[in-house]
Amino acid sequence: MKALGIGLIGTGYMGKCHALAWNNVSAVFGDVERPRLVHLAEANAALAASRAREFGFARSTADWRDLLADPEVDVISVTTPNQFHAEMAIAALEAGKHVWCEKPMAPALADAERMLAAQRSSGRVAVMGYNYIQNPVMRHIRSLIDEGAIGTVNHVRVEMDEDFMADPEAPFYWKSEAASGYGALDDFAVHPLSLLWSLFGHVEAVIASLAKPYADRPLKEGGRRAVENHDIASVLMRLPGGISGVLMANRSAWGRKGRIALQVYGSKGSILFDQERMNEFQLYTVDGRASEQGFSTILTAPHHKPYDRFIPAPGHGLGFNDLKVIECRELIAAISGMASHSIDFNHGLRIEKSVHAMAQSFREGRWVEIAAA
Ligand SMILES: NC(=O)c1ccc[n+]([C@@H]2O[C@H](COP(=O)([O-])OP(=O)(O)OC[C@H]3O[C@@H](n4cnc5c(N)ncnc54)[C@H](O)[C@@H]3O)[C@@H](O)[C@H]2O)c1
Repeated sequence: MKALGIGLIGTGYMGKCHALAWNNVSAVFGDVERPRLVHLAEANAALAASRAREFGFARSTADWRDLLADPEVDVISVTTPNQFHAEMAIAALEAGKHVWCEKPMAPALADAERMLAAQRSSGRVAVMGYNYIQNPVMRHIRSLIDEGAIGTVNHVRVEMDEDFMADPEAPFYWKSEAASGYGALDDFAVHPLSLLWSLFGHVEAVIASLAKPYADRPLKEGGRRAVENHDIASVLMRLPGGISGVLMANRSAWGRKGRIALQVYGSKGSILFDQERMNEFQLYTVDGRASEQGFSTILTAPHHKPYDRFIPAPGHGLGFNDLKVIECRELIAAISGMASHSIDFNHGLRIEKSVHAMAQSFREGRWVEIAAA
């Protein structure tokens, strides 16, 4: 396959991660043509130009629609705030581009449905930025579960916590606007849902409680603005095979920096993982003598694929940006028509439906079933 021409919209936190991934995917994997970094869009021309210089893009613009008309752009990374994803992803697909869109798809379910419809009629590839499923540890946990290493799984808990909104005086910004979605659900819960999907399949039913720890936040220009969504979510779930599930998400959990703690309990053992210690996991099995049973800690190593593509030494560790490089490689595989471990818009929409079911459950105070299709 010829080298892909890359367009990037947004150059904040995630925009830089995408740029690093596009820069590194060929060097890390060695089996794909080096992408050509063609055209980058930011909210203003000066920032766009300086980011293009830093990230290595040939052209920059303050109008993201310029990327649609650029014949050299094959794929567009959409890394803007949530409320812009639908408009940008749909326009990109309609212009014949492949799309790599940050999570969530869109705050409104109807917009997410339009995104999937646009992908289907375009025939192009569209995948979501669910980087945590790419951790080699997560792939290995999946194979352990499939092999029956911990027997029949009956209970799973996953908690996602960070503290960037823990300070009641942290300034109001787009993540507290209703336009960005429900809050902890669109921002955080979608990630644990992506992990659950990669291990067990999509959630079937939920009952949820949402909480808003702070009613308002200071505005940078003075005064205060009411917080329009919920920073905390607590959810009970039913997973495929009758697995009982718990999902907790909190954007205001002091001391938590990037916690995504997974606990999987089965009839013959347990598996624990935490993204804050993303290069290890704990395994407990009932094999051997009871007197020596206990959790063992396993460090990632070249046999946990594709760790070996980054570094030959065991226990030296990958980082967050490496997950984005793996995600990028999976996107290129999908574009090449090969099997791809990624969450396309079809599975992405199912995750959106799960989030909306959680919000509905909270509004109505009852379990909500999530339709399979
Ligand atoms: N996958 C992950 O782990 C992960 C982590 C953080 C954020 N995200 C997602 O990434 C998206 C962006 O979040 P972020 O934290 O990078 O935000 P950010 O605020 O750091 O960056 C957003 C960028 O988009 C730019 N932008 C806004 N409107 C634009 C427009 N019309 N044209 C061009 N550029 C525009 C802004 O100027 C800014 O540079 C969100 O949807 C968020 O949910 C994903």
